[in-house]
Amino acid sequence: MLKSRIIATGSFVPEKILTNRDLERMVDTSDEWILERTGIRERHVVSKDESTSDLAAEAARQALKSAGLKAKDIDLIIVATCTPDMFFPSTACMVQHKIGAVHAAAFDINAACSGFLYGLSVADKFIRTGTCTRALVIGAETLTRFVDWEDRTTCVLFGDGAGAVILEPSDDESALLYTHIKSDAEYWDYIQIPGGASKEPASKTVLEKRSNTIRMKGNETFKVAVKTLETLVVDTLEQCNLKPSQLALLIPHQANLRIIQATAKRLGLSMDRVMLNLDRYGNTSAASIPIALDEAVRTGRIRRGDYLLLEAFGAGLTWASALIKW
Ligand code: ACO
Repeated sequence: MLKSRIIATGSFVPEKILTNRDLERMVDTSDEWILERTGIRERHVVSKDESTSDLAAEAARQALKSAGLKAKDIDLIIVATCTPDMFFPSTACMVQHKIGAVHAAAFDINAACSGFLYGLSVADKFIRTGTCTRALVIGAETLTRFVDWEDRTTCVLFGDGAGAVILEPSDDESALLYTHIKSDAEYWDYIQIPGGASKEPASKTVLEKRSNTIRMKGNETFKVAVKTLETLVVDTLEQCNLKPSQLALLIPHQANLRIIQATAKRLGLSMDRVMLNLDRYGNTSAASIPIALDEAVRTGRIRRGDYLLLEAFGAGLTWASALIKW
């Protein structure tokens, strides 16, 4: 059976930066609280004429450039996002149009913060079955468009950005060794945008109640996330017959430094073997792992033959992991 491997990465974040100090002027919060409770210092925010597909297309262009490929070489585009440009067409179709990937099939996946790893898992199957040969998987979000800027419990957490990878069949040891995806909707209401869609269509009331913005039971989510991720990372390594000491780098979803520290501790990993950038980007949901992966590649933190563990947890609730031999 064929395997897939990542041949290139790319990422893009909007220019505008919103710092914790800026937020102090908007809601009753402090730089100290945000930094201590989350690890976030600042986040990037889209301008009024940018949308999710703009960020995604730029991340895709970076990945194509680094692979030395043209957009027409791509035969599958998956965009993981919970903040699409519009209900339809899909954001993946908008990306296809923007980059000129005329030979590709394109669709979106929504698994919130776990979306990129869901997309990676699906693209891997397409390549393993020979259905496609060059897949572009993108995680892209504009969560700052969907936060209530008067709700201090959520507006300090999120940021915008996009990351992309290109997958090809692998003819050597370098491969996506394993992916795992899982959902449990018992706690579907822990993180949601209740209004503005089919359940509660856009209306004056929706806007007045701001139910078209993110609602999150943060503390409850935190507890389930820590417990689930601790089991997930141990199981993922076991499935691949690897010990934590063999891991070169853990690349976690960047939601909260304390969640990441708990996961690393469970594996006995020191924090220098954990990729962290949430201080600069906040929680960019499906974009966080591919942005962190791209940064790790570009800063020389990953060498050929390294084992990388990627993991995520998000609304749904959903979670996912991937084990890569680079
Ligand atoms: N500034 C100051 N105080 C604040 C702020 C703020 N920005 N936000 C909340 N507080 C207050 C609360 O009101 C509360 O005050 P009280 O004790 O007087 O009631 C106090 O701080 C503690 O609030 P908690 O919610 O218990 O704080 P916690 O330590 O749990 O941190 C956080 C909150 C950062 C949201 C954390 O729970 C978290 O990271 N949760 C997980 C988020 C996550 O992983 N989401 C999944 C991905 S998102 C997606 O899928 C789209």
